[in-house]
Amino acid sequence: MMNNFPHVRLRRLRQNETIRSLVRETHLRVDQLIYPMFIAEGAQEPQKIASMPGIMQWPLEQVTREARRIADLGIPAILLFGIPNEKDAVGSQAYAEHGVIQEAIRRLKAEVPELLIITDVCLCEYTDHGHCGVIHNGTVQNDESLNLLAQMALSHVEAGADIVAPSDMMDGRVGVLRHMLDEHGFNQTPIMAYSVKYASGFYGPFREAAGSAPQFGDRRAYQMDPANVREALRELEQDINEGADMVMVKPALSYLDVIRQVRDHCDLPVVAYNVSGEYSMVKAAAQNGWIDEQRIVMELLTSIRRAGADMIITYFAPDVAQWLRS
Ligand code: PBG
Repeated sequence: MMNNFPHVRLRRLRQNETIRSLVRETHLRVDQLIYPMFIAEGAQEPQKIASMPGIMQWPLEQVTREARRIADLGIPAILLFGIPNEKDAVGSQAYAEHGVIQEAIRRLKAEVPELLIITDVCLCEYTDHGHCGVIHNGTVQNDESLNLLAQMALSHVEAGADIVAPSDMMDGRVGVLRHMLDEHGFNQTPIMAYSVKYASGFYGPFREAAGSAPQFGDRRAYQMDPANVREALRELEQDINEGADMVMVKPALSYLDVIRQVRDHCDLPVVAYNVSGEYSMVKAAAQNGWIDEQRIVMELLTSIRRAGADMIITYFAPDVAQWLRS
């Protein structure tokens, strides 16, 4: 009797790497990764970002060199953020024909045509107050900001962007962007909507990287409350109804349950943004020798995939691409 106990032995399928890989449920591949890049108009040399070791602000002149390295690693797409020389109340440089991102896109399309270019569409890097829309009486105006965001998206696409990613969290932006693009003959350009974007402390290092910290107040009047998940599904429905082609959850690691719910709730491709603070925490611990960076990063990204994300935007993309090769 005791000889046959237990019948069920889950360790049978864990005996060696060959058998483990045969029954593995989740895979992380380089073609699921998107790499964010910061382009600084004024810079002559790449500028280090103190809170994000290994990440740079790139001068326009060097952006294609870095993009070539990314493409050669097999990473299919980059997500662009611009740091303009001049900021004003209405973020004029965000939709200027020769703005930093518009120029970067033209260079990238000429030199690294196979790399997909996704652009972040949001005013906060371009406004002198650092908020994601225009301000009157101390509040970000929803409807007034929409037209500027649509102009920004159009200027990116006219310069050659492949996909636009609105991250401002104004109501109605996906519909307004879709309409603007369609009206100008760009009905084939997908919208990757930051549908479920929380007001998160994990964006801290990004605000140093992009110089986009709000000069007063915070973003809680437009980004979501970290406590809410039913509301996330309402945001999702709204963006789908307005014509989003892909939906995003951001940040990723504290919101794996939200990624799972979004995955179960819709059939669109789901993107997760492994944000700056999530990157910096791992880097800091690794630099102290407290964790095994490669192992931790692979485990974290696998957990984001397991939660239901099809794609991951991550500052670790070049490292992961190299690790997956070896
Ligand atoms: C722009 C934007 C932000 C991030 C992506 N797009 C900052 C914010 O909303 O405050 C954060 C990305 C990161 O932390 O890596 N609105």
